[in-house]
Amino acid sequence: MKNAIVKTRLTRSPRIAAHFIRRGEIVAFPTETVYGLGADISNTSAINRIFAAKGRPIDNPLIAHVSSIEQIKLIARVIPPMAAKLIEAFFPGPLTLILPKHKNVPAAATAGLETIGVRMPRHPVAQELIRECGTPLVAPSANLSGRPSPTTWQAVKIDLYGKIGCILKGDQTEIGLESTVVDCSERAPVILRPGAITLEELRAIVPQMKLAQIGDTKAAKSPGLKYRHYAPHAIVKLIEYPREATTEKNAAYIGLDAPPTHLTFRLKRQCRDTAEYAHELFQFFRACDALQVEIIYCQTVSATGLGLALSDRLRRAANP
Ligand code: TXA
Ligand code: MG
Repeated sequence: MKNAIVKTRLTRSPRIAAHFIRRGEIVAFPTETVYGLGADISNTSAINRIFAAKGRPIDNPLIAHVSSIEQIKLIARVIPPMAAKLIEAFFPGPLTLILPKHKNVPAAATAGLETIGVRMPRHPVAQELIRECGTPLVAPSANLSGRPSPTTWQAVKIDLYGKIGCILKGDQTEIGLESTVVDCSERAPVILRPGAITLEELRAIVPQMKLAQIGDTKAAKSPGLKYRHYAPHAIVKLIEYPREATTEKNAAYIGLDAPPTHLTFRLKRQCRDTAEYAHELFQFFRACDALQVEIIYCQTVSATGLGLALSDRLRRAANP
């Protein structure tokens, strides 16, 4: 009876949320990137519930969330030297490292892969939850598969109420985009998914760091990247300049420059900088969906710093 839950407990208490995890249920919780949907890494039936609740393809592996370096040793077979440097520099924080997996980790967590994604969130509520549970938690983003990742507990509730045991409520997430994913399981480190820890920051620690290109065998290593992602129901059009927007009929605009003055939009948002754009993007998509907006114009940004991750999410959300 995988989907028998009808009522989802809402709480701000990590202790209460941890009770649900211990009972084998699944719990949404805030992190500094987006909300995650967690299960005890050692509980295969709880892990299966995550896939059922999200409608997630079963070949898409989950990230393990830890609260200490000791926990990494329980789930990773080895920590290669370059991974150790990145851990030292960026944990806790919005970085996921792909490492060879320990034999204790059930195949359900990694979709049968011999590697596991490991991340130590820096959000105090996430840390407290993992500590209370006393075990790493596997957690994808807490959205229905294919929808924008949730940056508020209300967005989690819209997607998953009645399908999960508990929502641990926090504030709107600080960053708004998912973690940077770096493959450290082979000799050459590769960024599989750009995020808030930037290419420039990673290269300062590991100079040979590369970015996986689309169509790359490396990119294919991250099964999640082949699915359309982060997508609102509306058509997403990328424009370099606001004046390229052509229709105002049931349309919306988000970007760094002021919206075009000759058009009136259902929703519009001018962001102060790339960080604010990243912070607001998924919430803006969801607000557009709620108003049944049909077309969303998104201004492109330069692909440096956080702009690389933002450009990646915009491209994935966009219709060709
Ligand atoms: O910020 C984040 O990373 C959030 C929060 C909740 O921590 N989590 C998140 O999880 O975005 P998810 O499942 O939505 O995205 C994880 C990505 C997917 O593209 C998945 O395919 C990839 O990481 N991934 C996970 N384990 C992997 C592995 N062993 N090898 C390659 N890619 C992996
Ligand atoms: Mg996701």
